Amino acid sequence: MRPATESSSAPPAWTPPSDHLAPVYTQWPLTIAGGSGVYLHTHDGRRILDLYGGHAVAALGYSHPRWLDALERQAKSLLFQSNAVPLEVRERAATRLARFADLGLDTVFFGNTGAEANENALKLALRITGRRKIVAVEGSFHGRTAAAGAVTWGAASKWYGFPQAPFDVEFIPRGDLDAVARGVGTDTAAVIVEPVQGVAGAVDLGAAFLAALRARCDETCALLIFDEVQCGMGRTGFPFAANMNGVAPDMITTAKALGAGFPCSALLMAGHVAAHLAKDDLGTTFGGGPMACALIEAVVDIIESEGLLANVRQRSLELRETCVVGPVVSIQGAGLLAGLRTRRPAREVQHELLERDILTGTSADPYVVRVLAPYVIEERHVAQLRNALASLPA
Ligand SMILES: Cc1ncc(COP(=O)(O)O)c(C=O)c1O
Repeated sequence: MRPATESSSAPPAWTPPSDHLAPVYTQWPLTIAGGSGVYLHTHDGRRILDLYGGHAVAALGYSHPRWLDALERQAKSLLFQSNAVPLEVRERAATRLARFADLGLDTVFFGNTGAEANENALKLALRITGRRKIVAVEGSFHGRTAAAGAVTWGAASKWYGFPQAPFDVEFIPRGDLDAVARGVGTDTAAVIVEPVQGVAGAVDLGAAFLAALRARCDETCALLIFDEVQCGMGRTGFPFAANMNGVAPDMITTAKALGAGFPCSALLMAGHVAAHLAKDDLGTTFGGGPMACALIEAVVDIIESEGLLANVRQRSLELRETCVVGPVVSIQGAGLLAGLRTRRPAREVQHELLERDILTGTSADPYVVRVLAPYVIEERHVAQLRNALASLPA
């Protein structure tokens, strides 16, 4: 189907869904027909400014011409081949990603989802160190699989489902330097941390805490894993939050904006981690497929050549300078992973913004509205949000 454009006439009528999807998602009252640029088009003719991007995925908005072109060219040239076959596009994507990160994490393993990247990072850390404990941070979200869920804050009591975690886990409070010293020891295989926590409500853990984790991991020979599934790939206005904070971990996991809509993930490793890898240690059928790799290459290229890191920083500044209005009392997070702290329940504010044709998200914090805007938003879009917020009851 041809993507809708800003000038297209009313999209075709929406057909209600079948009864066959697993009933596990709470869904918003939206029936989307298509998307273009930073807008979604609904079946009933609304044009909605999307400041949420499908949980931080649509980082280039919709129908970016160069993204579409890369998709089409690769699909016509080679749709799929497995990792058993060397592919130039895979080599190029890995090189491009490692150079974009510029953190000395020069070995890349491609996967499909954020959880899978974390699962592999944790497995490597446990195996390399021969230890059985992972330290994670309160408020964290790392995914829904056995290992990623085990280090996700609150999962055990809510949805984890497995009878036991596959290793020992200790959670430490955010920003607590004493807890870093106490919790991370010579029994610790790795610390896994989101430098800017996403699901928690855009909580920037800050350079001092991350540097303390780095120092303690060095002292104890534990590995440091940054989960940049949500905050990486330019979302903070830097390639990764590691660059923003001047702290280089031993491994970074990333996904979401990595393919900007094409499902994929990556695990970036330092040389001393990669040195432990042997044939068959990691594997996947779909990860590193040519379609994903063509899109990863295109996404890095677009971010760099269109100056999108600078745009993220500028729009983020405007957001912080102008959007503390109406029900918003402060703004937290980094770049375009922003949390609008609200006086009233965030769900109420999110609902009212949607009534004004602006889509935002909520978070685990009931008083934080999450903004995960595409990197291509302009000043007028921030102004649109500001005006809508100003029109809401405080
Ligand atoms: C920081 C972080 N890590 C991991 C994940 C899991 O990614 P996926 O849903 O692709 O498995 C998410 C998803 O929201 C995330 O925000």
